[in-house]
Amino acid sequence: MAEYVLDHRLDGERSRLALMSRLLDPMHRRHLEHLGVTPGDRTLEVGCGNGSISAWLAERVAPDGLAVADDLDLSLVDVRAPNLELRQADIVSGPIDAGTFDLVTARAVLHHVADANAAVRNLVASMAPGGAILLIEPDFLPVNIAEPPVVREFWNGWLAWSRDAGIDYHIGRTLAPRLAALGLEEVAGTAETAVYRGGSDWATYWVDTVTELQDKLIGSGRVDQPSIEAFLAHCKDPEWWTQTIAFTAVHGRAPRG
Ligand SMILES: C[S@@+](CC[C@H](N)C(=O)[O-])C[C@H]1O[C@@H](n2cnc3c(N)ncnc32)[C@H](O)[C@@H]1O
Repeated sequence: MAEYVLDHRLDGERSRLALMSRLLDPMHRRHLEHLGVTPGDRTLEVGCGNGSISAWLAERVAPDGLAVADDLDLSLVDVRAPNLELRQADIVSGPIDAGTFDLVTARAVLHHVADANAAVRNLVASMAPGGAILLIEPDFLPVNIAEPPVVREFWNGWLAWSRDAGIDYHIGRTLAPRLAALGLEEVAGTAETAVYRGGSDWATYWVDTVTELQDKLIGSGRVDQPSIEAFLAHCKDPEWWTQTIAFTAVHGRAPRG
């Protein structure tokens, strides 16, 4: 298995995940609502991070449904509910309770895994007949238009580092063909991109993330200290506006068999 670069033991990982929840949960919930989550459903979230989406799913399926929250490392899950079950499992290794879930979801997980084909296959194998899947992953397409050039140079270095580290920051565009190739029906999706300024929550997210990873970035030889400093300075400048990730949300349905 590839090393997960944002280890949960890193100092800022709890607050970084909380910020991710604040920035991405509204979009994630909107897509889940669109697919339909109803009382009595069995749901599975893989790579649940702090568990905020699984806690919401547990509420939606209560009282008789079950929400399973899976992660390689459950140490930062800070939610509990009577019908919320925590599992520690690697989705690359195999499905979770194969063929049993009405809804399966994963957000910002697949770009990190060593074998995305195996992970997607195992997510799909976890679905019940007629069940739904929702995958949300980044696509760094918008960094191609980031200004000024010093920021584009930072992102070029970041993407070179991530490729070396086995992270696929362009995986968003591959989700729909992957699901279609596995025989899912009604496959469709959308991508949305935050437009943000220095000092905003998104800029703070990047300050936290790049600061956490700065030793790894510099050690890789792909990004140097001046480039990191220039990027972080822009992230703190309220006059600077930018776009970074097209968050690609793709859903599909398992055949009824
Ligand atoms: C970037 S975090 C995203 C957390 C959460 N889904 C969110 O969007 O806020 C990625 C999460 O996936 C988990 N993860 C990484 N590889 C995994 C795997 N192979 N199986 C299960 N979980 C995994 C990590 O431990 C981490 O909690």
